[in-house]
Amino acid sequence: MSELLFPQHVIAKKRDGGILSREEIAAFVRGATDGSWADYQLSAMLMAIFVRGMTPAETADYTDAMKRSGYVADLSRVRQPKADKHSTGGVGDKVSLHLAPMVAACGVAVPMISGRGLGHTGGTLDKLESIPGFSVNLSSAQYEEQLARIGVCLIGQTAELAPADKKLYALRDVTATVECIPLICGSILSKKLAEGTEVLVGDVKFGRGAFMKDKAKARELAQALVAVSNAMGTPMRAVLTAMDQPLGRAVGNALEVAESIACLHSRGPADTMEVTYALGEQMLLLARVAKTAAEARAKLESTVTQGTALEKFRQLVAAQGGDARVADEPGRLPQARLKVPLVAPRAGWVRDVDAMTVALATLQLGAGRAKASDPVDPAVGVDGLVKIGERVEAGQPLATVHANDQRALATATKMLAAAIAIGDAPVPAQKLIDEIIG
Ligand code: URA
Repeated sequence: MSELLFPQHVIAKKRDGGILSREEIAAFVRGATDGSWADYQLSAMLMAIFVRGMTPAETADYTDAMKRSGYVADLSRVRQPKADKHSTGGVGDKVSLHLAPMVAACGVAVPMISGRGLGHTGGTLDKLESIPGFSVNLSSAQYEEQLARIGVCLIGQTAELAPADKKLYALRDVTATVECIPLICGSILSKKLAEGTEVLVGDVKFGRGAFMKDKAKARELAQALVAVSNAMGTPMRAVLTAMDQPLGRAVGNALEVAESIACLHSRGPADTMEVTYALGEQMLLLARVAKTAAEARAKLESTVTQGTALEKFRQLVAAQGGDARVADEPGRLPQARLKVPLVAPRAGWVRDVDAMTVALATLQLGAGRAKASDPVDPAVGVDGLVKIGERVEAGQPLATVHANDQRALATATKMLAAAIAIGDAPVPAQKLIDEIIG
C-alpha cells in the first residue's frame, strides 16, 4: 500500500474538500469489504463524504467499486434483453410483484434483487414471502438458471452481493449519514448493477410516505442516479411519482400480494396501474422492444388482457417454491382472524389519506418491522382503502382493518380514522406521475 492510501490520509483528503482518485475510493471500499479499515475509519470517511460531497466522477467510481466488492451476475446465458426497476419505496407500493411478470411476458428478462421492509415502507421480499412456500433465498447459480429458464427472478440481497454496501449501510444507519445523494447512489446502484440488468428504471417517490419527502430533493436524487448509471454503461431513466396517499387500496404483505394478483386479472386500482404502466413503458423502451411509449403500453396491456403476465406470475411463484394456486385463489394467502370495517362518520369527499399515518397504523398491526431482526405478520394490514377525491356516504366503509390482535386493532383503527379526512367539497384529481428524467 502506498503511503497515500493509509485510511487517515484518504479521510483527510476528503475532509479538506479534495477529490478522491479511483484508487483512493477503491481502497476505502476494499477496507469496508475485507475489514482492513476499522469501523471508526469507515465512519469518519462516510461523514467526510456526507459533508463534502462527491463529484459525479467520484460517485461513479464509488458505485463501481461497491458493485465489484462481491458477486457480479453473469447473465450471458439469458438471451433476452434485461431490464429492472428500482423504487425508493412507498406505502402500498406493490408494483414489482405484477410489473416483473408483465415485462417478462413481453420478452424482456427481469433480474430483480429486492429488499425487506424497514421503518414505514414495506419490502417486496416480505410481500413475496407471504405466498405459502415462496423462497427469496436462491443461490447465485439458481438465480442465473431461473432467469435463463423463465425470464424472471425476484430474490433478496445475498451475502455475496455488494458486501461493501451491507457494511457501509449499517454504519450509515447509526452515524447520521444516510441522507447523502452520492452514498445513496452508490448503495442503490451497486446492488442493481451487480444483479446483471442491462437497463434500469427508477421510481423515485416524493411526499409524506416517501423516503425523500421533498420533491426537489427527490428530483436531485433521480438525476444523480440516472447520471451515474448512464456513466457506468447501464442506461437508466427515472420516473418521479407522488407518495402522499398510499398506492392502491391495500397496505400489508399478503393484502398487497392479493392486490397485485388483482392487477394481473385486470382489476387493479387505477393509480397502481398508472404507475405500473409508466414504469413498464420505460423498461420496454430502454430494452428496445418498443419504439414508442404507446407501443410499449399496448404490449403491457395485452399481457394482462391475454393472461400471459398471470401465467408468468404462476411460473415465477412455482419456480421459487410457492403455491402458484394463489394466482387464481388469493384466499389461499394468509388471512387475519379479525376483519373489521372502519366506517365513514359523515358524508362528503375524501380530502386526504395520509400515507405515513396509514403506514404507522399497519406497523401497529405487525405488518412491518422497527428493526431488521423483527418478524412480520403476513396477514395483517388494511384493504378497501378509499382514495382522495372519492365521494363517501355516512356509514360506508373507508377501509377494512385486518388484525390478529384486539388491542392492535383498536389502536390501528383509531390511527386510520385520523389518517382519512372528509370534506364538503369535491377535490381535484391528484397528479401521480410528475416527471420522467433521463
Ligand atoms: N436504499 C438503499 O438501498 N440505500 C440507500 O442508501 C438508501 C435507500
